Amino acid sequence: MFNHQSIARRHAIKLGLAGLLGMTTVTTTEAINRGRQTPLRSHPKRDFTVVGQASLKQRAAAKGLIFGAATEQRILLTNTQFANTFVKDCGMLVAENDLKWFTIRSNPHIFDFTKGDWLAKFARTHGMLFRGTPLVWELGLPRWFKKKVNHKNAERFLVEHITKVAKHYAGIVHSWDVVNEAIAVSRSKRSDGLSRSPWLEFLGEGYIELAFRTAAKADPKAMLVYNDRWLDYDTPVGNAQRAAVLKLLERLKSKKIPVHALGIQAHLKARETRFNAEKMRGFLKDVASLGLKILITELDVQDEGLPADSMVRDRIIAAAYEDYLSVVLDEKAVIAVLTWGLSDRYTWLSRTSKRPLLYDSYFQRKLAWNAIARAFEQAPKR
Ligand code: XIL
Repeated sequence: MFNHQSIARRHAIKLGLAGLLGMTTVTTTEAINRGRQTPLRSHPKRDFTVVGQASLKQRAAAKGLIFGAATEQRILLTNTQFANTFVKDCGMLVAENDLKWFTIRSNPHIFDFTKGDWLAKFARTHGMLFRGTPLVWELGLPRWFKKKVNHKNAERFLVEHITKVAKHYAGIVHSWDVVNEAIAVSRSKRSDGLSRSPWLEFLGEGYIELAFRTAAKADPKAMLVYNDRWLDYDTPVGNAQRAAVLKLLERLKSKKIPVHALGIQAHLKARETRFNAEKMRGFLKDVASLGLKILITELDVQDEGLPADSMVRDRIIAAAYEDYLSVVLDEKAVIAVLTWGLSDRYTWLSRTSKRPLLYDSYFQRKLAWNAIARAFEQAPKR
């Protein structure tokens, strides 16, 4: 049996030490923030203590929330330590790449569900929910797509893909990102901010409605999600992206399109301090008032440009996690927190970031884990 008190004490000693060491380098942190004329993100004395031994999924469940993460068959198959860590903490498994077009549709005439089925079975065996992403996206398409798909056949391809894939996983998936990243205000010339995807080019803006209608027919029970990015910060892009996403959701709801939830990717940036809690709360409230649930779908923290000292770095990253989640989880329509990976060993951010996730490359828990645990602790019950 663990002795809770002595573990808590050991934690406190460790954190105290980290604080002392952090003091020597805090000038670096201050310099980063002063340069940007923003307040200090993480004070060396900030406390990331967690109490007890419960896993993240247990801490989330205690508040009626789901905690999970994205991963791939390849990783779970090759690394037992990772798989064990994943099973311990996650109540939901998100297919990071194994349900994307480029995985399932390597050939236009074939639907290959081998990897997705393996993941779904792994999730079921370990009592986890399973989540699919995405049915429709401008990226993640196989090479043949450009040559094969055109104005004339795009609708057939879209409907066929959604129908086959969503039917195959009906009763198995908790939720689908039916449409991913349809809005890109910074790259769009349109007033609605829609991204120049092949789907928009071939089918017009109606492709989004068609996608949701088709998904609902194929799997009437799954939660159907509209998923998007750049929604987190008080920047010109962030403000415009939130407004455009809200407008799209209002339009879909007013037409009675079966959309059930908004997915907020939440790829955070440790050095970005333009977070406006009131604006974020207002946005979440507006989404919730449409009768939609909200999922944080791809949470991670890009740590490019932070001090090299990993203790200092980890505190700033943990602060980014906790500051964001403590605001977002106040909104009761938020039902899930899903991270985009679990360990720094396997992350799509490896080119820019060293320590963006909850566990380090050797599967040791980091302060980011504590930060998420603490955010669950503070969250109101659903
Ligand atoms: C990323 C995966 O993590 C990478 O492994 C892959 O090479 C490209 O896609 N937004 C999304 C996700 O919606 O599907 C993306 O996942 C990350 C950005």
